[in-house]
Amino acid sequence: MKKILVTGGFGFIGSHCLVELLKLKKDIICIDNFLNSSPKVHTQIKEITKTPFLFKNIGIQSVEINKIFQENEIDTIIHFAGLKSVGESVTYPGKYFYNNVIGSKYLFNIAKKFKVKNLIISSSATVYGNPLYLPLNEDHPIRATNPYGQNKIDIEKLLIEDDFFQNECSVKILRYFNPAGAHPTGFLGEKPNGIPNNLMPYILKVAMREFPEVCVFGDNYPTPDGTGVRDYIHIMDLIDGHISALNYQKKGISIFNLGTGHGYSVLELIHSFQEVNKIKIPYRFVTRRQGDVAEVFADPSKAESVLNFKCKRSLEEMCADIWHFANKN
Ligand code: WQD
Repeated sequence: MKKILVTGGFGFIGSHCLVELLKLKKDIICIDNFLNSSPKVHTQIKEITKTPFLFKNIGIQSVEINKIFQENEIDTIIHFAGLKSVGESVTYPGKYFYNNVIGSKYLFNIAKKFKVKNLIISSSATVYGNPLYLPLNEDHPIRATNPYGQNKIDIEKLLIEDDFFQNECSVKILRYFNPAGAHPTGFLGEKPNGIPNNLMPYILKVAMREFPEVCVFGDNYPTPDGTGVRDYIHIMDLIDGHISALNYQKKGISIFNLGTGHGYSVLELIHSFQEVNKIKIPYRFVTRRQGDVAEVFADPSKAESVLNFKCKRSLEEMCADIWHFANKN
């Protein structure tokens, strides 16, 4: 059986995908340099799947990648590896460009050299910038409002402007909205090092009493309760979307939004977490975060009609699963 190379396989999204691929008896090679993940995840994945797989502690620019392709018949790459904090990308644009764009370019050159048949890459709704209309479909203009978003646009362009990827490879560009939640076993979840940038892991830190309260970035947006609205997608739905993309073999570049099509506000998320987990989440309003937009949510109809993919899990399940994970780890 041909093998699947998973880059960044120990990160939040990569690790959840790895578990599902192993459950599907796929033959996996995982690489991860632990720049944004932990070796502990390797143990957790073995715990859940009881299935061995080849792992190399290397990054996507390692010269060893070429050797991996020479020694293994790999026909698919699922590319998760990359830095993903909007705020951090503003502080360290050069580090983000080098890791995300140059790293992806190196990987794509290898994919061309070995004529990989299937390529799935992580992109982000951040490429849409400040929405001109909602819900966001894949035809919405793309324009970055931060270096991270520009990285994703540059990475997409590397593929769109290349004959091999346009004609000989089946490329699926998946634009994630806001992944949240955790694996239902409680063995895997999002545990960012330091102070989380994203809302859900921050709420979790407050629930764990590591931080006193959630700072709500702005209460005067043009939204029903004045706080930011986003399309939170359960991590397990996001992975189902990747499996659907894996089974979609059409050659050329296909772009899909992976979101629920429904937006929830910051206050709705906080209230949902409190009700589901019966735990108080103190919060207070502070000034808006630079670069934030009022409202972002997906038009998920293309993934539904082309990939036959539709989200199944609720916001309540995201809140319950992340709390279950936190209490198990
Ligand atoms: C969600 C909402 C904040 C933290 C980013 C990236 C996106 C993806 C997900 C990688 C906003 C508010 C947040 C807090 C708050 N990452 N908030 N207090 O900014 O929508 O998306 O992360 O792919 O590409 O752009 O997610 O979770 O940071 O914010 O009030 O402590 O919560 O203002 O309205 P975001 P987020």
